[in-house]
Amino acid sequence: MHSPAPKTATGKPLLDTALGIKQDRPPIWIMRQAGRYLPEYREVRQTAGGFLDLCYSPDFATEVTLQPLRRFDLDAAILFSDILVIPHALGQPLRFAQGEGPILDPIDETSLSSLTPEKALDNLDKVFEAIERIKSALDDKKTLIGFCGAPWTVATYMIGGRGSPDQAAARLFALKHPEAFAALIDMLVEVSAQYLIAQFRAGADLVQIFESWALNLDEQAFRTHVIEPNRRIVEKVRNAIPDAPITGFPRGAAGMLAEYAQETGVSVLGLDFATPLAFATSHLPDTLPVQGNLDPLRLVAGGAQMETRAHEIIEAFSDRPHIFNLGHGIVPQTPIENVARLVDIVHGR
Ligand code: CP3
Repeated sequence: MHSPAPKTATGKPLLDTALGIKQDRPPIWIMRQAGRYLPEYREVRQTAGGFLDLCYSPDFATEVTLQPLRRFDLDAAILFSDILVIPHALGQPLRFAQGEGPILDPIDETSLSSLTPEKALDNLDKVFEAIERIKSALDDKKTLIGFCGAPWTVATYMIGGRGSPDQAAARLFALKHPEAFAALIDMLVEVSAQYLIAQFRAGADLVQIFESWALNLDEQAFRTHVIEPNRRIVEKVRNAIPDAPITGFPRGAAGMLAEYAQETGVSVLGLDFATPLAFATSHLPDTLPVQGNLDPLRLVAGGAQMETRAHEIIEAFSDRPHIFNLGHGIVPQTPIENVARLVDIVHGR
């Protein structure tokens, strides 16, 4: 259940919003704000070599995390990493092929036991080092966001070996091998909770659980694959860090959105861009902070349509704590000047 958190202001507008303290204007960050639309990112990426080399180098990871904040007046930095470092840390071979996205050697019901959850956190120590460095370089008013992928979303990649439009491999695996599937989800819940706790201890102010593939599930599967694992992560993290601010982003949750918010107890609900504004305002508790939800392609096209929609979003959520964001990740072809314009609009300039 969502209960409004204690209202002790931290002086960080984005974190305060997540804690339920509404600001005069919404704070803003941009999903996947460090990335290929920035030439300075592409340059560091080139120097680092592989994408994982970038993720596991505290120097490079710190540098690319801070890049978007040098260009734009954003209210938060998000740790530069990827949701797939968890399977990698569990011992599953992972590579990022140029232009193809992530590729893993798919696991099946027999290879599950070769994963090494006991080693996972040690394998991620460079990530915690990066968080410490980012934190010490960051202005006091900026919020540092950590993150992980939600168990179901990460499992879709572990089972399918790559992204797919319908997640059929993972959905079938869950139906045909319910016990192995439950064991995988349990493992991911435990490791992800430990991972987030360690991120808070290293200096993260807020964490986001990316459930990017919360779509294509019937209500029963949504409850077992999405709601219950997200709820258990929130519970485990809060057992270690009371009142830990946690954003849930169940992309595609649609009619299950309110139940997700209610049952998981997330502090902030991330809205994808297909969520109607009136649906969100009428189905979610008035005090629940929301984040979102501009279509990333509106940011690519820019101009009047972007400005009008940004104002509609700000207006719709003007009565509740609201963190402005896109409703999914920024895409590589986004013009930088449109990002600068969007940040100005949200800042009321
Ligand atoms: O700036 C930030 O937001 C921090 C970095 C970040 C990355 N990935 C870097 C990245 C974050 C928060 C993620 C999350 C992530 N990764 C998600 C959840 C968010 C979402 O978009 O739904 C998912 C599903 C992944 C898995 C993943 N990683 C895919 C599908 C891809 C390929 C597609 C793509 O966007 O390139 C990646 C690669 C990746 N992760 C890149 C970046 C900057 C591009 C790699 C490159 O530079 O070549």
